[in-house]
Amino acid sequence: MTTRAVVRGVGHYLPERIVPNEWFEDKIDTSDEWIRSRSGIERRHFAAENQTTSELAANAAQKALAMAGLEPDEIDAVIVATSTADLTFPSAATMVQERLGMTRGFAFDVQAVCAGFVFALAQANALIISGQINRALVIGAETFSRIIDFTDRATCVLFGDGAGAVVLEAADGTGTNADRGILATDLNSDGRQRGILYVDGGVSTGTTGHLRMEGKEVFRHAVEKLAQTADAALEKAGLKADDVDWIVPHQANLRIIKSTAQKMGIDLDRVVITVQDHGNTSAASIPLALSVGVERGQIKQGDLVVTEAIGGGLAWGSVVLRW
Ligand code: UT7
Repeated sequence: MTTRAVVRGVGHYLPERIVPNEWFEDKIDTSDEWIRSRSGIERRHFAAENQTTSELAANAAQKALAMAGLEPDEIDAVIVATSTADLTFPSAATMVQERLGMTRGFAFDVQAVCAGFVFALAQANALIISGQINRALVIGAETFSRIIDFTDRATCVLFGDGAGAVVLEAADGTGTNADRGILATDLNSDGRQRGILYVDGGVSTGTTGHLRMEGKEVFRHAVEKLAQTADAALEKAGLKADDVDWIVPHQANLRIIKSTAQKMGIDLDRVVITVQDHGNTSAASIPLALSVGVERGQIKQGDLVVTEAIGGGLAWGSVVLRW
């Protein structure tokens, strides 16, 4: 018998305020046409002034718990993937634990920037299959609007705020790739590339700082590495691109999403795409897309889903799971 980490619930939360591309036009030298054609983004959500990442995360978590039919105290671990935690410490995850009214279990953050949710899923999977926990709440949540330099047109038009969450539960499997649950993970990082995507603040500067990105360089790495990591995870699971029902990619740029699908030999009608509505929400983008994909009726029980993401670090990876 093999233990598998199976998705029991999924949910998302987006702040009420929707900011269309046109909003930027009288603030910086840009246009709706440029943003759409270079990134595929049409609008994004920005958190209200008093809204924090842990609030967004807790709202998404409540929806995932409701779908799973579980109470917060039935969860053993809360893992939040974020680069925009409310404070330097404690973790956003412990704040979510408190917001949900949880009185047991443990909680911690994972920091792998845009790849954070993939890394968090892999950690939750490891805790479940090793028998340390039965259930995990895995959340990706961000308020990137707080670290955007609104005078830098090359970056400020790309990002948005939001949160998505899944509930994972231990289940008995047969050990074959026909099982539901997480079937394989592939994680990578390369600290030599830290200078092409980073925030220029933190405890060493005494400021929160702003996001800085060499977009062209990140684009080049993304196109090369995303298909590689997805193929590697599929191979570990003994599966091929033909077996995939849905790619649920990190939503940074429609051109990257298309080129990765093309490299993998997968048609675009098997890719969940939300970048037009959410912009790049970093660690929140994949759980948001999973939740929207289920809501749209795209992802169904038994479907083979491949997630893939890359972000600051660089850090990148992929998780293959049967929904
Ligand atoms: O989530 C983490 C991973 N992040 C990513 O995956 C992002 C990866 N990078 C990208 O998505 C793309 O590189 C961008 C969307 C950021 C930029 O697209 P690009 O095709 O690489 O454009 P570019 O940076 O080469 O800029 C082309 C031109 C430049 O003008 P010149 O030098 O050719 O005269 C820019 O100054 O577009 C200009 N530009 C803009 N024009 C209007 C840059 N930003 C803007 C803007 N509006 N907002």
